[in-house]
Amino acid sequence: MDGRPPSDSRSELVLWIGLPESNSAGNAHGGVIMKLCDEVAGIAAIRHSGTRVVTVGFDRMTFQRPVLVGELVTVRATVNAAWRSSMEVGVRVEKETLRTREIEHTSTAYITMVALDDDGRPAPVPPILPETDEDLRRAREAQVRRDNRLAEREQLADGR
Ligand SMILES: CC(C)(COP(=O)(O)OP(=O)(O)OC[C@H]1O[C@@H](n2cnc3c(N)ncnc32)[C@H](O)[C@@H]1OP(=O)(O)O)[C@@H](O)C(=O)NCCC(=O)NCCS
Repeated sequence: MDGRPPSDSRSELVLWIGLPESNSAGNAHGGVIMKLCDEVAGIAAIRHSGTRVVTVGFDRMTFQRPVLVGELVTVRATVNAAWRSSMEVGVRVEKETLRTREIEHTSTAYITMVALDDDGRPAPVPPILPETDEDLRRAREAQVRRDNRLAEREQLADGR
């Protein structure tokens, strides 16, 4: 199977935060931002794999700054690494205060997506072909996170 560079999977979604997305204090619900991250990660993973995909894991995600009603949220996703059937997708969340055009980074998420075949079984995905030093760094760090995730899963299973 031919490899694909991370740039092939680059995907973006934009949401203008309104009242339905917010709580009574005017802050966007964290779940709204997480859903947007999940969607953009799914698009990136489908672009990389050419199959349907499911979310298998969502790494600890923090919200470093509040997103407020009236602000524009942009989420950008790229496949960082691909293994047999799973891919790690990195998502960067930014908000824009439209009147001042100030842009701030609010969150980063790492989401693991699994490619599925037509019968719903995990299916092989193309390898990732890093093109830049940044791509290489992301792939290297993704491998560390995968090793930690799988080690944690094994350790928890052993303890039951
Ligand atoms: C994703 C799913 C098909 C994997 O099934 P499974 O029986 O664990 O299959 P496998 O053991 O072959 O694992 C498939 C891949 O997922 C990876 N994986 C499984 N659990 C994982 C976890 N907790 N964290 C990271 N990767 C994980 C495996 O390492 C493997 O990757 P690889 O093929 O690249 O090595 C199954 O767990 C599932 O259907 N989950 C529900 C998905 C879903 O409904 N998501 C929400 C809606 S989209």
